[in-house]
Amino acid sequence: MSRKLVAYFSASGVTAKVAQTLADAVGADLFEIAPKIPYTKADLNWMDKNARSTIEMSNHASRPEIESKRDNMSEYDTIFVGFPIWWYVAPTIINTFLESYDLTGKTIVPFATSGGSGMGKTNERLAPSCKGAKLLDGKVLKSHSNNPELAAWVESMGF
Ligand SMILES: Cc1cc2nc3c(=O)[nH]c(=O)nc-3n(C[C@H](O)[C@H](O)[C@H](O)COP(=O)(O)O)c2cc1C
Repeated sequence: MSRKLVAYFSASGVTAKVAQTLADAVGADLFEIAPKIPYTKADLNWMDKNARSTIEMSNHASRPEIESKRDNMSEYDTIFVGFPIWWYVAPTIINTFLESYDLTGKTIVPFATSGGSGMGKTNERLAPSCKGAKLLDGKVLKSHSNNPELAAWVESMGF
């Protein structure tokens, strides 16, 4: 049987809620991409050019460490990967996550929450970290997306 995983990073809880609803809607397992060093409020201040998130996002090669690795990744053929949009793209910890596994033959479906931006150049930045996998377009989802809406979105992609 094909198994699905919803893996997400969420700094302030919005994406976490959507990820939970999505996992329920599609019968997927849920995994939090937890940073080894949690982001403080000051770390997330995008107005501060010296804030951790600003520094990380201005360096495409930054790879913030993740607290723990999912040990059964080989069991999943579809991985939904959720995150907040940071500076118009995915936080670089998502690159860390994708590069931590052999994704050969898997389908990666990005989803995000944001303050209004779309996916922008998200996939351009994620593609090099998805070697051997099929990276779908993905979508910015409403923060209050409900189960039927998310089920319909997933069905529209042919799952
Ligand atoms: C460092 C940082 C950068 C952000 N950049 C953007 C952005 O470029 N466009 C946007 O619409 N929202 C941006 N946001 C807002 C988040 O995408 C939005 O609040 C998101 O829903 C937060 O999700 P979370 O609670 O799962 O972390 C940014 C937030 C932070 C902390």
